[in-house]
Amino acid sequence: MTNDELSQTLDTTDEWITERTGIRERRIGGTAKSLGVLAGQRALDDAAVDARDVDFLLLATTTPDRITPATAPVIAHELGMHCPAMDINAACSGFMYAVRTAYGLLETGSKRILVIGSENLSRWVDWSDRNMAVLLADGAGATVIEYDPTENDLLSFSLGAEGADADLLTCEHGGFFQMDGKEVFRRAVRVVVDSAEKAMTLAGVSADDLALVIPHQANIRIIQAACQRLNIEMERAVVVLDRLGNTSSASIPLAYGDARANDRIHKGDYALLTGFGAGMTWASAVVRWSK
Ligand code: ACO
Repeated sequence: MTNDELSQTLDTTDEWITERTGIRERRIGGTAKSLGVLAGQRALDDAAVDARDVDFLLLATTTPDRITPATAPVIAHELGMHCPAMDINAACSGFMYAVRTAYGLLETGSKRILVIGSENLSRWVDWSDRNMAVLLADGAGATVIEYDPTENDLLSFSLGAEGADADLLTCEHGGFFQMDGKEVFRRAVRVVVDSAEKAMTLAGVSADDLALVIPHQANIRIIQAACQRLNIEMERAVVVLDRLGNTSSASIPLAYGDARANDRIHKGDYALLTGFGAGMTWASAVVRWSK
């Protein structure tokens, strides 16, 4: 759905949306399950891993298909898995929270974990509300994380949550997403910079060492402001929001997939993955690609 299509029914313009957010078009359609199955299967194929060899499925989603059951077991069944499966909801930080959880599981005996971020945000958008309708979209991304006793590529994490800010971005049962955009923007830049710096310090790397930044895709101006404060040129940031909008917990794996597809990730590279979202929650990690 393009900005021009949205402006046919909303009091907005392509110019406003592009200038204020960087978004030009977005994908609408699917469910947390259908998109999650698609992304999960592609990740398994790409990693050449049999579904039966996965011993945990973590699904990051803000928009599960039902309150209960969780969507993860349903996806696991569709993919032919017989392993524990659960949803994680940390809004747009969800994928990074799931990767952090996966790391803990690998430390305690799991061998292979499928981590999916899948969102059906459009279902919870009031399509007559121009504040939210221009931002949110549907999508999914996934990755397989495998235990390797000789090499650890998940070098550091810095996660946090501040429930005092919970009302800045909400979606009540049966309601729609609502947000204090300006406040979310301000805090987002602050927590991304702060957690990114902490993650880099813990990993023993500097901003200059990073080949890539893979940020949550909410607004190009948030990415620009954070990169500027971190002394990272925008050329090193992966941006897919122009085509995909804000897909919450799917946005980091989608950006990561885009970087891989465009040959932007190479052996030995360090990358900063960083997200923030409702809660408020935030999460940064420094990873290295040893393969
Ligand atoms: N089209 C045209 N005009 C608009 C639109 C629109 N879609 N939306 C707002 N406006 C108007 C406003 O009414 C306002 O008009 P006024 O000056 O007459 O009052 C003007 O444009 C400026 O509005 P602002 O809210 O000041 O615009 P801002 O530059 O702050 O951009 C935005 C708004 C894009 C929402 C920005 O604040 C933002 O990106 N915030 C962060 C969003 C985010 O990151 N959310 C995170 C997570 S989402 C999740 O967890 C699911």
